Amino acid sequence: MNYQQILATIKSEMSSVKHTGKVASYIPELEKIPENKFGMHLYCMHSGHYSFGDNNERFSIQSISKVFALTRAMSLMGDELFTRVDVEPSGDPFNSLVQLEHENGIPRNPFINAGALVISDILISLLEDPKKDFLNFIHKITGSTDITVNTKVFNSEKKHSYRNAALLNLMKSFGNIENDIETVIDFYIYQCSIEMSCKELSSAFMMYANSGKLLPNNEQLLSSSKVKRINAIMQTCGFYDEAGEFSFRVGLPGKSGVGGGIVAVHPGQYAVAVWSPPLNPKGNSELGMHALERLTTLTGLSIF
Ligand code: DON
Repeated sequence: MNYQQILATIKSEMSSVKHTGKVASYIPELEKIPENKFGMHLYCMHSGHYSFGDNNERFSIQSISKVFALTRAMSLMGDELFTRVDVEPSGDPFNSLVQLEHENGIPRNPFINAGALVISDILISLLEDPKKDFLNFIHKITGSTDITVNTKVFNSEKKHSYRNAALLNLMKSFGNIENDIETVIDFYIYQCSIEMSCKELSSAFMMYANSGKLLPNNEQLLSSSKVKRINAIMQTCGFYDEAGEFSFRVGLPGKSGVGGGIVAVHPGQYAVAVWSPPLNPKGNSELGMHALERLTTLTGLSIF
């Protein structure tokens, strides 16, 4: 597969794609990011790295961190994890409260905010220093030991975290949160405020394309059956109320964040990350989705 040529085609097409997306403004610090940033990086397990644009510039990973948090929780805990968070698509916005009331404080899945807050609570209960563990995990799966949190983004989100506080309070009223609300919010926002580049994200997601093994040393970090489950949740829940649309247009498991990043994996082939800050009304990168749709169209390959 000539990925370099395919990425060159996507690059040349991107400037003429009509778009109406808006950079996230509910976290004020994110609104300062120039909207014309664009990076794409594909890491093929058989033939290496292909990229263009701002692929080496770090940005706020936001909800992409939910995949790493779930991975840590699944490696520390067995199936009882899924008594506290379900694995069904929500069909609702990422920060919605409505289903929680009807469903006794059990979030639909780990990739909506409510689910990621429960995963954060679990990690706080299990780990002595969850922030350090989380950053160490990202350092290990990327090989980039200087990846860290953007404190301006962290403080900016902390000042505006009313909905996440509401989700936590509601879940605590049902007995599904063990720790203090403040402690859980702090750890959750810490994860979201980590900055990584498209290149680093494609390296991090290689383990989901490679049955749980890191490259280049093939260390088995997570069992292949757990990776299968994480990929299945990415496929069905990675894009909130746009998960069906992403499956329909792109055909790969993936995860988005309001920083404008999207990561997708083709198991047995590659991990790919794109970054374009303007978001569509569902909170997913508009041009990022378009670029990934072109990738699976031009390669003629998806998981379907
Ligand atoms: O909790 C929030 O609202 C953000 N820190 C993360 C949301 C997010 O990235 C949803 N993504 N599309």
